Amino acid sequence: MRIFTKLSAPLCLLFVFLCLKIAFSSSIHASSFSTTHLCSHEEALALLQFKTSFSVDDTASKIESWREGIDCCSWDGVSCDNVTGHVIALNLSCSFLYGTFPSNSTLFFLRNLQSLNLAFNNFKLSKIPSEISQFTRLKHLDVSSFGFSGQVQGEIAHLPKLVSLNLSYSDLILETATFRNLVHNLSEVRELVLSGVNMTSVNPRFFIDYSCSLGECVKRKLSKHPLQQLYILDADYGRRLPESIGDLKSLQSLSLSCNLEGSIPASMGNLSQLTDLELYSSNLSGQIPPSLANLTQLTSLYLSNNQFSGPIPASIGNLRQLTSLNLYSNNLSGQIPSSLANLTQLTSLYLSNNQFSGPIPSSIGNLRQLTSLNLYSNNLSGQISSSLANLTQLPSLDLFNNQFSGPIPTFQGNLSQLTDLDLSSNNFNRQIPSSLANLTQLTSLDLSYNLLNGSIPNSFANLVNLSYLNLSSNHFSDLVVPDMFSLLQNLEILDLSHNNLIGKIPNCLPKSLSVLNLQANYFDGNIAFEFLEGCGLRNLNLHGNQMDGLLPRSLVNCRMLEVLDVGNNNISDTFPHWLESLPDLQVLVLRSNKFHGFVQSTKESPSFPKLRVLDLSSNYFVGALPVRYIENFNAMMDPHGEDGGSSEYMMVSTRTNSYQYSLVVTWKGFEYELQGILTVFSSIHLSNNMFEGEIPDVIGNLSSLKGLNLSHNNLTGHLPPSLGNLTNLEWLDLSSNALTGNIPDALFNTFGNDSYEGNLGLCGIPLSKYCDEIETPPSSFQEKDELWRFGWRVVVLGYGCGVVFGLLMGYLVFGTGKPKWFVSLFDGRPSQSGTKMRKARRLVQRRS
Ligand SMILES: *[C@@H]1O[C@H](CO)[C@@H](O)[C@H](O)[C@H]1NC(C)=O
Ligand SMILES: *[C@@H]1O[C@H](CO)[C@@H](O)[C@H](O)[C@H]1NC(C)=O
Ligand SMILES: *[C@@H]1O[C@H](CO)[C@@H](O)[C@H](O)[C@H]1NC(C)=O
Ligand SMILES: *[C@@H]1O[C@H](CO)[C@@H](O)[C@H](O)[C@H]1NC(C)=O
Ligand SMILES: *[C@@H]1O[C@H](CO)[C@@H](O)[C@H](O)[C@H]1NC(C)=O
Ligand SMILES: *[C@@H]1O[C@H](CO)[C@@H](O)[C@H](O)[C@H]1NC(C)=O
Ligand SMILES: *[C@@H]1O[C@H](CO)[C@@H](O)[C@H](O)[C@H]1NC(C)=O
Ligand SMILES: *[C@@H]1O[C@H](CO)[C@@H](O)[C@H](O)[C@H]1NC(C)=O
Ligand SMILES: *[C@@H]1O[C@H](CO)[C@@H](O)[C@H](O)[C@H]1NC(C)=O
Ligand SMILES: *[C@@H]1O[C@H](CO)[C@@H](O)[C@H](O)[C@H]1NC(C)=O
Ligand SMILES: *[C@@H]1O[C@H](CO)[C@@H](O)[C@H](O)[C@H]1NC(C)=O
Ligand SMILES: *[C@@H]1O[C@H](CO)[C@@H](O)[C@H](O)[C@H]1NC(C)=O
Repeated sequence: MRIFTKLSAPLCLLFVFLCLKIAFSSSIHASSFSTTHLCSHEEALALLQFKTSFSVDDTASKIESWREGIDCCSWDGVSCDNVTGHVIALNLSCSFLYGTFPSNSTLFFLRNLQSLNLAFNNFKLSKIPSEISQFTRLKHLDVSSFGFSGQVQGEIAHLPKLVSLNLSYSDLILETATFRNLVHNLSEVRELVLSGVNMTSVNPRFFIDYSCSLGECVKRKLSKHPLQQLYILDADYGRRLPESIGDLKSLQSLSLSCNLEGSIPASMGNLSQLTDLELYSSNLSGQIPPSLANLTQLTSLYLSNNQFSGPIPASIGNLRQLTSLNLYSNNLSGQIPSSLANLTQLTSLYLSNNQFSGPIPSSIGNLRQLTSLNLYSNNLSGQISSSLANLTQLPSLDLFNNQFSGPIPTFQGNLSQLTDLDLSSNNFNRQIPSSLANLTQLTSLDLSYNLLNGSIPNSFANLVNLSYLNLSSNHFSDLVVPDMFSLLQNLEILDLSHNNLIGKIPNCLPKSLSVLNLQANYFDGNIAFEFLEGCGLRNLNLHGNQMDGLLPRSLVNCRMLEVLDVGNNNISDTFPHWLESLPDLQVLVLRSNKFHGFVQSTKESPSFPKLRVLDLSSNYFVGALPVRYIENFNAMMDPHGEDGGSSEYMMVSTRTNSYQYSLVVTWKGFEYELQGILTVFSSIHLSNNMFEGEIPDVIGNLSSLKGLNLSHNNLTGHLPPSLGNLTNLEWLDLSSNALTGNIPDALFNTFGNDSYEGNLGLCGIPLSKYCDEIETPPSSFQEKDELWRFGWRVVVLGYGCGVVFGLLMGYLVFGTGKPKWFVSLFDGRPSQSGTKMRKARRLVQRRS
């Protein structure tokens, strides 16, 4: 999984990390200060007094070395003029200072200070004291990163010698007047770093487009030493880039990630000194202006995460200095221009998440310096150019989610350093070339959602570094050597689901395995696994095969098991009560097998403490509903089922990949494959068995239950009023039983009056005795889709003496009241749906 973290994301973490790093390195260099000239007593005293106004969070603080009796010029972070002995530079970056910054601080006695760095401290959100203007010789001021907050006061514009000013990543607010004064007064400023500064009130005309805009000022006042760097990252700045940006001719580095709108003005092509142009993560649109081809000094061009459309101008081939070209996540289209081949300095090329079409130009093989290439999630087609094999520096090749076809390229062994190959969700066909196994460094191989057939080559046994192997959703028919997987001693995830594999399942598995997904194949015979002590399996999915025999009792050795799905097989066994002690088991699906007998707990506790999904439907279970278990399903009693619980998907993360679990659910005879199992999802399916007796009252305790299906049994008696307490219930099916009596009012209150609105076909609301219209199953898949998508609440109550009568309460919830989890959960489609759908879902999964 690829994650592109925004710069602003985990600032606190970044803070800690940077400080640790810096503290470490500074301790090494601490002794390298010159000690030739003693600093004055006054300045030493001023510093010592300054020290006392803060508490220090950490002994690694530079300020710890500040002691009376030692020349202050040798103190950590203090630098003196080697002639006069005056303190001229104070670097207290990352000194773990804590406390409000006093406006009468003795620091202001250091009138000779030329450089002051207070970044990464905690001044408890003090304002920058206006006394700062007393540092009339200051050239470098860094008050970035969290120390200060509030409005930047006008006095900062009284520092006539200032060359660099860094206000970034703080809670500072920069207002129009101050900003204007800064620009007017600070004629020496070369570097102005305003990332993350709140500049919402700054009129953009003052920024660039005013009579003395920054641009004009640069021309008029700064002509000798014009502004070279302007960074405004993550500032909520808004609005458009003016044409006059082209006036900032001396800019070398422009980085604006601040919610810009509109297009890039063609005048940008005038900034001929630019080496770095970063306009990512805004709302910029329109085409990439061909004039950018004039920026021949550019080494990095970042336009990712915008809404640029149209083609990449072929003239981009002029930017021969480019080392990074980053255009991912836009709406760019057309072919990838072959002129890219002129950019021979490129080390990273990111074009993913666009609409590029056509083949990969074979000239891409010229880009031999490439260490990152991302082309996934486009509409690229054709065969993979064999010239890719020239990109021998690439550690990973991600071409998933395109329309590539033809055979899997062999890469001729040139990419032998490749560790990650993802060709999933394309139209590759034919057999896997056995030479693919020449890529022996692979740790992750994903060929899922293609049209591959034939056998899985036994040469895969050479891929001993593989930790992730996903071959699902192809047409593979044969595991030539099922036991070769046991040789892959690092394998953590093995997904062979949705193929046409026949024969016996591999019975010897690598110990490292976390996920084994063999769903939807034609495997038969016993489940012959012998799970040893210490088995680390977390998800075993054998759903939809033809396996028979017993469940292997050794499964109980897999203490980490979270999901066990053996639904839709021919397993003939009793209820596996011996699994009830597994501490993490959350999903147990035994549906549509030949399980039989009573469902009873043998132990007092624990019994399935984490179970959230239990599907025993369509078996031959008899006797009473399993009251003892229901009493102990603690995970389903979590009252904050809906919003309090975080809507995350169950997944496992390995060294190299994360893998999201899927689950097949049935509703009204249709199977749906949910591509993710929300951790708040809980349901019980006991339908189509021979359970009898009453519905136990304790069922009302399962307050986070979303679905309950007890239909097609021989349940008798009244509905327990406690059912009304299941306030998270979204669907309930009690049809085809022998229940009697009234529907509890509470149940209907739960579902609200609006449940009946706009449903002319509804009958028997509530409690009218008969209704000959049993619920109408949706006539087509589309309709069913809609049904799931828009979150119908469906309740089917079986009622009366042997007479089945159904009551369908369905209502459309568009917008208001649409339960969030429901939408995300049932964005799934029937599992019969085509590959395209799957691709779309995979995409979501990838992006997460
Ligand atoms: C003193 O500082 C000047 C510049 O400030 C530098 O050129 C010189 O090498 C320094 N001398 C010593 C002895 O550090
Ligand atoms: C200031 O201190 C920090 C942290 O100790 C260090 O990383 C940085 O290089 C110093 N800056 C200068 C200009 O010495
Ligand atoms: C700064 O002012 C505070 C009161 O506002 C006072 O308590 C403190 O002693 C003063 N510090 C110095 C160094 O003058
Ligand atoms: C400005 O401060 C930020 C945060 O401390 C830092 O990451 C950045 O390197 C600084 N920029 C310059 C040009 O000094
Ligand atoms: C410019 O700086 C000087 C001091 O250097 C100050 O007197 C003046 O008020 C400043 N002008 C503005 C507009 O801030
Ligand atoms: C930015 O500052 C303005 C006041 O100038 C304030 O209203 C706004 O909430 C601030 N925005 C953020 C994101 O802090
Ligand atoms: C590119 O630069 C040339 C000369 O340097 C200039 O004539 C031309 O107008 C520029 N083109 C654009 C689109 O800026
Ligand atoms: C790429 O380079 C070739 C030859 O070096 C040149 O003919 C061609 O015009 C260049 N293309 C672009 C778009 O710069
Ligand atoms: C790839 O490399 C081979 C030689 O290793 C060379 O003949 C071929 O031209 C290269 N292809 C491209 C597109 O650069
Ligand atoms: C690739 O593997 C095949 C067998 O699968 C072998 O014959 C061939 O020599 C290998 N090629 C390289 C370059 O390693
Ligand atoms: C249903 O249960 C009743 C008694 O509880 C029993 O008489 C009847 O035979 C059962 N029906 C089925 C189909 O098992
Ligand atoms: C519903 O829950 C409440 C509080 O959890 C409890 O007091 C009440 O008895 C329950 N009602 C039923 C019918 O179980």
